[in-house]
Amino acid sequence: MILGLCAALLLGLAGIAQAQGDATRGAALAANRSQGLCVLCHALPGQPTALQGTIGPALDGVGARLNPEALRQRLLAPERFNPDTVMPSYGRVYSAADAMQRVPVARQGKPLLAPDQIDDLVAYLGSLK
Ligand code: HEC
Repeated sequence: MILGLCAALLLGLAGIAQAQGDATRGAALAANRSQGLCVLCHALPGQPTALQGTIGPALDGVGARLNPEALRQRLLAPERFNPDTVMPSYGRVYSAADAMQRVPVARQGKPLLAPDQIDDLVAYLGSLK
């Protein structure tokens, strides 16, 4: 009984930790050119200068400018802040019906990034003070 309660408590804590994301995984994802692809448009601290994007603002210090919820919204629905944005909506499921979008078969029906990947990115971006 007590053991069960302890296990439930530990699982609960693990759940909270996961919901907060992992900044190290987020950093790797942001720099990954076949997944996050953030560096296509953004400069990230610690990345080679020649490989930094300049289409979006540099992301150093973004954790001091935006709180975690604002960061999350930027990733999930950037069009809310700029209807003409070129930044992808990472929480959205793109379909062939989207103008100018061609979605590879393996990615159809899935958001660009999974919810736990968004958590990891929010943790990473929030650490850029
Ligand atoms: C195709 C280009 C593009 C890609 C890819 C992209 N972004 Fe952006 N992002 C932008 C632009 C442009 C802006 C400026 C605001 C706007 O026009 O939406 C922006 C704004 C932001 C902001 C707000 C910055 C601020 O200082 O207000 C954050 C945070 C952000 N992007 C994070 C990311 C992350 C993390 C990724 C990768 C998962 C990513 N972006 C991928 C183009 C991009």
